Formats: sequence, structure tokens, C-alpha cells
Amino acid sequence: MDQSPQLLAAHQARRDAVDPLLSPSNPLPAPADNCTELTCPGAAGLVQTTKADPDAFVFSFVAAHESRLAAKANGPKPFARLLDLWAAQDSYRPGPDSIATITWPSRDTEMTRPLLERGFAPLTILAVRLAGRSMTGAASTDTSTDRCARPDSNTAASACACANTGTSADRVTGPGTDGGTPDRVGAEAATSAGADAEVATADGPAGNNVRAAAPDASSTVGARDGATVDIAVRRIEERDAEAAAELWLDEVRWDAQFGVAALRRSTRDRIADQVTQTITGDEKWGWVAEREGRLVGLVVVQPPGYSDWAAKTVRAAPAAYLTCGIVAAQERGGGVGTALVRRVHAELDAAGISATLLHYAACNPLSGPFWSRCGYRPLLTAWGRGTVG
Ligand SMILES: CC(C)(COP(=O)(O)OP(=O)(O)OC[C@H]1O[C@@H](n2cnc3c(N)ncnc32)[C@H](O)[C@@H]1OP(=O)(O)O)[C@@H](O)C(=O)NCCC(=O)NCCS
Repeated sequence: MDQSPQLLAAHQARRDAVDPLLSPSNPLPAPADNCTELTCPGAAGLVQTTKADPDAFVFSFVAAHESRLAAKANGPKPFARLLDLWAAQDSYRPGPDSIATITWPSRDTEMTRPLLERGFAPLTILAVRLAGRSMTGAASTDTSTDRCARPDSNTAASACACANTGTSADRVTGPGTDGGTPDRVGAEAATSAGADAEVATADGPAGNNVRAAAPDASSTVGARDGATVDIAVRRIEERDAEAAAELWLDEVRWDAQFGVAALRRSTRDRIADQVTQTITGDEKWGWVAEREGRLVGLVVVQPPGYSDWAAKTVRAAPAAYLTCGIVAAQERGGGVGTALVRRVHAELDAAGISATLLHYAACNPLSGPFWSRCGYRPLLTAWGRGTVG
């Protein structure tokens, strides 16, 4: 495999120029048994073929079979040539529940056309918000109380025409890719996160110097239009386990519509595991929104120390990863999501977390605009041919 210093330097220069927030790119690693090397003038790549573990949580966000290309390229033409070499591989052919994926800096727009011309679609976006970034948009009508109206039936119907909720599945970037994009699954997926991106922490695991803000009393976010009832945003508790798991499951169902997630036989049980971790608060931090004693929203964050697989993609440190964000279908469009995320950001900022990352499905009509208003912007795009499930 030709990874000349010139190619690596050109690749790095391109990456730095399009997005200085991206972490430095590592050379492609030595190929393992399930890898194939590809080379052409101006580009080099490593194709990794994987078969997913049906019992792992990540299986809800990855295809059963995946061919993943990690690449270095000094421009769109060599990049296109590399894609063609990849397409000639047997492992590339997408069949049922199989997918070919490549993750690339979102702002490197010159690579978009070669991908589209070869049948790739943007599947998931890894987005980042730097600490202190404010929320914008209509949801901030009242900064002092975060008033949340219950959407009237018409609003609710239009806001959730697609059904349930969804997590944006993420893609674990291949060995040495330019930025890992494991799903919002976290540690399970971390094993194959892009080796390309180094963890940008100055003093060991970022988690060591970060503490969650002490869970305080729930914050009432108010009522609106007289008839509506208060929404409370608070830390998750043990009594929330069942309802939180149902919301999380809804998120997977929602994202399945966009080809980036699938309800597997193991999904329900693995989500229950995730909720347990969230309630204990060690590996995940959770917040809920409650209306009249009913859970209507959930946000789960992997703190530094448990989010390295995602944190290594950015230069800012320490970084956390928002692994689940969902509002009950009938409550969407009324400010619940904004109130939840405002509270989460306040706590993350206060805890000294410099950057928060999350994935959303590129085709999800609700999540991109919502997260953008919450201060997130695209960092890495996972392109794919095929779907999950
Ligand atoms: C994305 C999601 C979490 C946002 O939560 P939400 O409660 O619907 O978000 P908000 O109500 O705060 O903001 C969304 C809309 O409501 C509007 N809004 C905000 N506050 C409002 C208020 N007080 N009254 C009326 N409308 C309000 C916002 O302007 C925004 O409108 P627009 O998108 O039409 O421009 C939610 O839609 C959801 O669960 N979607 C499905 C799952 C999903 O996509 N999850 C994200 C995966 S990455």
C-alpha cells in the first residue's frame, strides 16, 4: 500500500483546510486478515469487511455485513479512482442487510459528487457543538422559563408523520479512517473506531478531570396557553427505567425509516442494559422530561472517559457524546426537546466539557434542523450503499 509521506501530508493538509476542528489523521494501519489494500496514484485505502455480532447493542445500528473503506486521498480524482477499485471487490456488493460505507469530513464537498455518482447516499452525520454555543430559533421564546406548550393535535400530527423516534445510527469507521463514526452506541462500537483520529486530551482519559454536575432538583419548564401542564426536566431515576427504555426503542424505530438502524431481536434487551447504565450514572448520564408524571423526553450522554471513540475525532477536549435524544411523538414541536437539551448543555458546560458530539440520520427531517438550532454542525459524514437491516 502506497502511503508515501507526500500522500499523508497532502491528505492532512486537505483535512486541516476544510475543517480545523477535525483531529489529526493517522496513517492507515497494517492490514488485518479481513482487510484488503487498495492503491492508485494520489490515493490509498484499506477495505475492512466485518460481520456484526447479533447480540451486541451496536447491531441495531450496523448492517449484518459491512465493507468499510478507510482512505487517504489528495483530491477528488484519485478519490474517485479508489472508489472504483473498491467497487471491484467481491465484498463490496451490497446484498440483504449488507452495506458499503466510507466516512469523510462533511466539509470536504469536492468528494460529494464522486460518491453520489457511484450510488452512495449520506447516511449519518457526526455533528459537534463547542461549549458555550447558544441555542437559536423559535424554541427560545422565553429564556427565563423555557415555556413548553403541548402541541395541538394538528401540529403533533405533522411533526410526527413518520411514526416514532429515532437514534441516528452511526457508523464505526474502519481502521485508520478519517474519524471514527461509531453509532450512538458507544463503547461497544468503539473497538473499530477510526484509528485515524487521535484522542485530543492533554492529560489522559478526559473523564478523569470531569465530573457531572450534581443532579439537582428538577427544573420546571413551565406551562403555556393556560390549559397546558408543566413539564419538568430532571436527571433520570430508577423509576423511569421502563418508560425510558420505550422512548429509546422508539428512537431506533424512528431511525430505521432512514436505513441507519434496525429493530433486531436483541434491541429491546440491549436498550434495557443501556438504561440501567444510565440510571447508575457511571457510564452514561441521563435526563428526562416529564409531563403529569409521564415521561415525554429522554437525553442520554456518554461522558468523557466513555466516549473516546467519538471524542478522538475532534481537537477539542474533553468531549462527550450524546447517544440518545428523543421526545414522545405526540409531544414534538412544543419545546420539550429544546428545554431538555438546554438543561443538558448547561450541565455539560458547567462540568467543563469542551465539545459534545452526536449522530443524526441525514434523511431525518426533524433532527438536522433541531440539532442545528441547538448549536451543532456537521463534522463527518458516513456515506453508504445499502441499508442497515
Ligand atoms: C428531534 C426532537 C428530539 C426535537 O424535540 P422537540 O420537542 O420536537 O423539539 P422542539 O419542540 O423543542 O423544537 C422543534 C420545533 O418546535 C418548535 N418549538 C419550539 N418551542 C416551541 C414552543 N414553545 N411552542 C411551539 N413550538 C415550539 C421549534 O421552533 C421547532 O419548530 P420547527 O422544527 O418546525 O422549526 C424530536 O422531534 C424527536 O424526538 N424526533 C424524533 C426522534 C429524533 O429525530 N431524534 C433525534 C435523533 S438524532
